[in-house]
Amino acid sequence: MRVDLRSDTVTRPTPGMLEAMMSAEVGDDVFRDDPTVNRLEALAAERSGKEAALFTPSGTMANQLAIRCWTQPGDEVLMEAGAHPYNYETAGHAAISGVQIRPVAGTRGLLDPQDVATCIRPEDDHFAPATLLCVENTSNRGGGSVYSLEAMNALTRLAHSRGLKTHLDGARVFNAAVASSEPLERIARGFDSAAFCLSKGLGAPVGSLLCGPADTISYARRMRKMLGGGMRQAGFLAAAGIYALNHHIDRLSDDHARARRLYDGLRALGLEAVEPETNMVYAELPDANRAASALQEHGIQIVVVGPTTVRLVTHLDIDDADIQATLDAFRAFLA
Ligand SMILES: Cc1ncc(COP(=O)(O)O)c(C=O)c1O
Repeated sequence: MRVDLRSDTVTRPTPGMLEAMMSAEVGDDVFRDDPTVNRLEALAAERSGKEAALFTPSGTMANQLAIRCWTQPGDEVLMEAGAHPYNYETAGHAAISGVQIRPVAGTRGLLDPQDVATCIRPEDDHFAPATLLCVENTSNRGGGSVYSLEAMNALTRLAHSRGLKTHLDGARVFNAAVASSEPLERIARGFDSAAFCLSKGLGAPVGSLLCGPADTISYARRMRKMLGGGMRQAGFLAAAGIYALNHHIDRLSDDHARARRLYDGLRALGLEAVEPETNMVYAELPDANRAASALQEHGIQIVVVGPTTVRLVTHLDIDDADIQATLDAFRAFLA
């Protein structure tokens, strides 16, 4: 038995997705002649309500390109303290764009406009000018938490009123869309750019999209080339992405329901856990490493994110029997 709850990035392409990949029409995307990549980018632009979109190898590259597009060296970028670019993108913002990040403490990974307003420094020659606000929805370190449309609109309105551009890190924005019953277009509407991943909950093997104004995406395309992200017959990958966008969004509610079952089961076993809003469960144990090793012996893989905290993520390759097996393994460990 192997149940991999470490992340929703561990999924394998489904037979339908593999078939779509195998039959993809491809060309050289650096020459802009891959019809399947062109189709994916047009679909992403349409779904996000933006003028254009760019296929990138990863969510990290999509975020870094957005930072590069919207800032100048010496600028400051605001984001929540647990946000992905601040913690997990190897300080790419400093190396690629020459900017610093101002982390803003949120609640469950979600920013409050008042706190953001306080962190935008006044104009003064001593200060780095804030030129970009990044917002992560869902928030990974926040436990897969979801912004309401009102909360996000308040953030983007505030940022724009203070002269900042706004970028949505929507690595898991379709989880947010399903949980809040709002389409991507409405979630992304207030943002100057929006990124989303195909290779997380949607189950594709590779790829993200950066969506935004045509001239910005055109600059991002040149920067992608500079970073070595120009891909050739990428249509095989884009075909997986198109398949994911057409077949794997509505089913995210199954992942959310399974995360809820996990949470209920862990609570029934006496563990503290954060109530899931989407597909992630963060749980507290006296010794997270010991728990992860014990579960591993039952073929269950989870991630240790702190001395007393573990993370479990549901996805396309997790079914009801896997949830039961995981709860049984926790019960055996706690006995
Ligand atoms: C919120 C968020 N943004 C961006 C990324 C980066 O995506 P990638 O792993 O494709 O670089 C991740 C990855 O887990 C993420 O959780």
